[in-house]
Amino acid sequence: MAITIKTEEQIEKMRDAGNILKDLDEILRDKIKPGVTTLELDKIADDFVRSRNAVPSFKGYGGYPGSICTSVNEEIVHGIPSKRRLKSGDIISIDMGSIFEGFNGDCARTYGVGEISEEDKKLIEVTKQSFFEGIKYAKAGYHLHDISAAVQKYAESYGFGVVRDYVGHGIGRHMHEDPAIPNYKQKNRGPKLVKGMCLAVEPMITAGTYELKVLKDGWTAVTLDGRNAAHYENTVCITDGEPEILTL
Ligand code: MF3
Ligand code: CO
Repeated sequence: MAITIKTEEQIEKMRDAGNILKDLDEILRDKIKPGVTTLELDKIADDFVRSRNAVPSFKGYGGYPGSICTSVNEEIVHGIPSKRRLKSGDIISIDMGSIFEGFNGDCARTYGVGEISEEDKKLIEVTKQSFFEGIKYAKAGYHLHDISAAVQKYAESYGFGVVRDYVGHGIGRHMHEDPAIPNYKQKNRGPKLVKGMCLAVEPMITAGTYELKVLKDGWTAVTLDGRNAAHYENTVCITDGEPEILTL
């Protein structure tokens, strides 16, 4: 599939999809406390997205059972909401997607629960900043893999691992469109970025090895060494100037 270029009208719908997630993030952030279950967070998210006349895009996607992904500690991505209760010292990555009038938004954040370690604070902060280092190159004239290389360089400069088995993606009418967006250096610079491309850039960063396995539930990706991981994602559009971040 070719990379789709969005019209201003289409981007307007993606702005709405993004705004819903931005508001949802503010709600969830307040609910992330010791004692809450990830299923309670999922319910809040599902209700909220639907209350805004949008659809939680993950629900039923490839058979995925949740409306959000809740990945705790060594879980990297695609953790399934459950009766698990969060406790102080956990870190949790929340990944959320919405479809509004046929267009998608997608974003993820990692939060600490109660008091967390200095190492986990650093992991969360570096993961977030690696996204911003990457999107310094999300401008017309640069190439896609300039983003990838910048994310990797920053995260690895702190000794962290950069996940290879999952990547970011183009986004629009579909949650997953071309191009795939690795968070690590490629042999070539990739496609040239053009105004109207919309990208979900999503570094997944680990405290130790980037190697992972998927649990028997068929979804939850965990680090092979059991050390913690963080995830940070926004939907961004290429413009004439600075990238427009639709989910912040
Ligand atoms: N944000 C994730 C992604 O970009 C979410 C997909 S979870 C799924 O791939 F369950 F919907 F697959
Ligand atoms: Co995504």
